[in-house]
Amino acid sequence: MSSVKLHDKTFVPYISNAELMKAVDKVAEEITKAHKDDPQPPVLLCVLNGALPFTAELLKRLDFPIELQTVRLASYSGTDSVGPVRLIGALSSELKGRNVIICEDIVDTGKTMVFLHSLLLKEGAASVEICTMLLKPEVYKQPLELDYVGMEIENRFIVGFGLDYDQLGRNLNDIYILQ
Ligand code: IMP
Ligand code: MG
Repeated sequence: MSSVKLHDKTFVPYISNAELMKAVDKVAEEITKAHKDDPQPPVLLCVLNGALPFTAELLKRLDFPIELQTVRLASYSGTDSVGPVRLIGALSSELKGRNVIICEDIVDTGKTMVFLHSLLLKEGAASVEICTMLLKPEVYKQPLELDYVGMEIENRFIVGFGLDYDQLGRNLNDIYILQ
């Protein structure tokens, strides 16, 4: 793996795809244990666009009835979290009475998850769990419990495997860190 240049910044290798796949395996096992016998199939809710690669890998490993839905939110611009989180468009389906598992790429300040968690409860979801591939524990200070966490990382800006720097870098198979 060598460095990559995206817009004006250079990023260097940080987490290999093999390590990411191990984290997905672990989370998939935990979700399977918790939900394989649910009376009604749970909903895996992918937070677009970042969580798309993670959700796809996770879904392949879930061998029981489960629905896939998506949601689009916004708050980030460049390398800094800005402004309030908002829903873009509508939720893709009725979630009243459903057990929802939010599938996110990374939890940083947690503002996004706090917003979405409360939105889903307002929509009448029976339960809302959070599954994130990555967590920055130094930054996350919310009371909200994170149910499934793939890996914890330091408080640095990263790209790859769904994560972007101004829309670039999502297609990288490994994760890279700002040099
Ligand atoms: P939060 O609301 O502060 O937890 O931010 C979560 C969102 O910010 C994630 O869904 C990501 O899209 C984005 N984000 C947070 N940290 C990074 C990073 O290091 N690289 C790229 N995007 C990030
Ligand atoms: Mg995201």
